[in-house]
Amino acid sequence: MSFETGALALVGMPGSGKSTVGRHLARQLGWRFVDSDHEIEIAVGSPVRVLFEQRGEAFFRELEQATIAALCQLPHTVLATGGGAVLSEANRQALKAHCQVIYLRSTPDELFRRLRHDSHRPLLQVRDPLRRLRELYRERDPLYRETSQFIIETGRPSVPTLVNMVLMQLELAGVVDPMQVPATVGRVLPPVAGSSGRD
Ligand code: S3P
Repeated sequence: MSFETGALALVGMPGSGKSTVGRHLARQLGWRFVDSDHEIEIAVGSPVRVLFEQRGEAFFRELEQATIAALCQLPHTVLATGGGAVLSEANRQALKAHCQVIYLRSTPDELFRRLRHDSHRPLLQVRDPLRRLRELYRERDPLYRETSQFIIETGRPSVPTLVNMVLMQLELAGVVDPMQVPATVGRVLPPVAGSSGRD
């Protein structure tokens, strides 16, 4: 590992696979996995959806900012961020300053295929979720790109393939030492239960 502090952070739209890929990536590296939404849920004792309903999005964004500021400085950690984290300039700066940031890019149509039955994401509980995904993507794709050093096209590959793609990019960039992780080529991970809904 050639950088001493900070985490590997995953950014991208809801449903792009940040949590699932992040968990497997952490396992491959022997690192800790943290998910900013999950940490917020533990801290306040309620799901993000309920937090949005009861306290509003602005309150959630404040908690998200404080959470990311703390988590992005943890060493040997893979951090999955919420899809809207990059909306905050402070979050973008913190991620850029402390982390190697990976953007898992998916098209709105792919995301819709994965999320069409989702009932947990407050921003997608609307009559036309595909339209909402397109709007969110238009606004956020430039911010994900601005914040990240690596872009992985998620498309249709399986989770193990995506994890390998991430690891190969990190190894090529000298961020991860290939000697520290199992061989990239032919690396086999156990199948992911219900891997179609990737996060
Ligand atoms: C949000 C995405 C969610 C969660 C919250 C807001 C967003 O995380 O942080 O519901 O603004 O897109 P996921 O990207 O993990 O769904």
